[in-house]
Amino acid sequence: MRDAIVIGSGISGMVTAVKLAEEGVSVLLVSPFPSERSQSVMAAGGINAVLTDCEPGDSVACHIEDTLKGGCYIAGRDSVTGLCESAEEIIRYLEGIGTVFSVDDDGRPARRAFGGQSYKRTCYCGASTGKQIVTALVMEARRLEASGKIRRGLGKCFHSALIKDGVCYGALFFDEHTGNISAEYADAVVVATGGQNALFGKTTGSTQCDGYTAGKLFTQGVELKNLEFIQFHPTTIETSQKRMLLSEAARGEGGRLFYLDKGKRVYFMEDKYGPGGNLLPRDIVSREIYGAGSEVFLDVSFLKESEIDKRIPEVRELCKKYIGLDIASEPIPVAPSVHFFMGGIAVHNDHETNIRNLFAVGECASMYHGANRLGGNSLLAAIHSGMIAAREIAGRDVVADKPDFSQAEREANESLAEMRNTKSVFPVMYIRDMAAETMNKSMGIIREEASIKEGITDIDYYLSIAEKLSYDNSVLPYFNYSLSGILTLARAVLTCADARKESRGAHFRSDFPDTFDEYAHPTIVSYDNGQYNTRLDKENEYES
Ligand code: FUM
Repeated sequence: MRDAIVIGSGISGMVTAVKLAEEGVSVLLVSPFPSERSQSVMAAGGINAVLTDCEPGDSVACHIEDTLKGGCYIAGRDSVTGLCESAEEIIRYLEGIGTVFSVDDDGRPARRAFGGQSYKRTCYCGASTGKQIVTALVMEARRLEASGKIRRGLGKCFHSALIKDGVCYGALFFDEHTGNISAEYADAVVVATGGQNALFGKTTGSTQCDGYTAGKLFTQGVELKNLEFIQFHPTTIETSQKRMLLSEAARGEGGRLFYLDKGKRVYFMEDKYGPGGNLLPRDIVSREIYGAGSEVFLDVSFLKESEIDKRIPEVRELCKKYIGLDIASEPIPVAPSVHFFMGGIAVHNDHETNIRNLFAVGECASMYHGANRLGGNSLLAAIHSGMIAAREIAGRDVVADKPDFSQAEREANESLAEMRNTKSVFPVMYIRDMAAETMNKSMGIIREEASIKEGITDIDYYLSIAEKLSYDNSVLPYFNYSLSGILTLARAVLTCADARKESRGAHFRSDFPDTFDEYAHPTIVSYDNGQYNTRLDKENEYES
């Protein structure tokens, strides 16, 4: 192909853009914010890879098995195999472009223990792995920008895709600088817009990741997958703006969870699951914390101060800064929070959606993590998916005739003008807050039919008023036109949760606490004129 648009400039978007440009494809890399402000910089703990000098007994096969097991066996074996097999090459690539990994005494990438993994295989850069990778990729992207192979479209927000007869030819973008919506055409479009954090308000992630692109594409015929699987990270602390992540690295270094019973510490994870209990997959640990019924603490104070400062200095710093507590001497009060979305845009193994020439990579795509992601596999998947999509796009033929979408462009601008000219005010951000409250109530760590159905009723109501009322001109036009798409995605999430009448991984239903073989497949959801239709992917149509 000759040209491509990449939407989103975090790690997965940048990798895709860099790899496409290196293959001679001309890239437009679009995002509202610079890469340095993407959610990727928040990724803390590390990236999994079985390296040649792995721990005795470890193997790529074991990484594959841990990943499939962690995901409760609904991720495709072929795609997970590709992911784990690519991991060492990815670490070497990252080192090659200047990512500074923490090293052991022999100067090799150090590895730490992470949840649900049989061996220490999480490579890391202190507790700021995402930031280091972003920095290295920004330099790579700049090199290609300087030679004109990547063009940055900063300040551009996705509006809608240009789709005709099941083929994507580009997208409409709202430009914050000109205030207009304009069409960009390309042979391929890659969506790399991250998770759906804003659906839940305060999470460990960024509210920039609002799910609008996935929601809008859904209404344009793109299928979504596994939306009911939302990962709660077990150990976070509350701040006024968001939940701050206390990296799993703290438990990887031996941190212990406990609650107090009449002043006596109860190490409930170890009592129930044995010595490895603190480091079980996140769905299990989060449910146990939730079920503890009293305040839970994480203790690392038995580690030497010098060990804390060497291995998890960022965790110490973060607790000092946000809750005024020194982890070297005091336990940390922690609680689970929404952290990651295993579900998202349904993609085939080459990362193409059900729409030809429209791809999705990174957290917005659902592929490798099944019902629950292992810590350290998200950075790996972000990079691997970008590489796969870029390779596929570079190898395809140029799209010869592109239809003219100037009417769609005109209509989008007219609708924007209508929103601007209206006198009354519709409190968009208030509705987003209300929807987030609904989602937190209905899609918590433990769900059941009544609360899911209540959530559906609420979101349907918000959707109905979003389509009727006028908009708030004190906020960026993006917030006005994106509202319906975000609410549509919320509705799709609830629909998937309602349809899966069992408990599996991060989807735990108190009315269906067991796991059933008949549900051992991904959920696919599609949209047809206001109807949300779900099916189980029993034929593995997306695992090809
Ligand atoms: O706990 C953590 O550091 C998170 C890592 C991840 O989500 O992969």
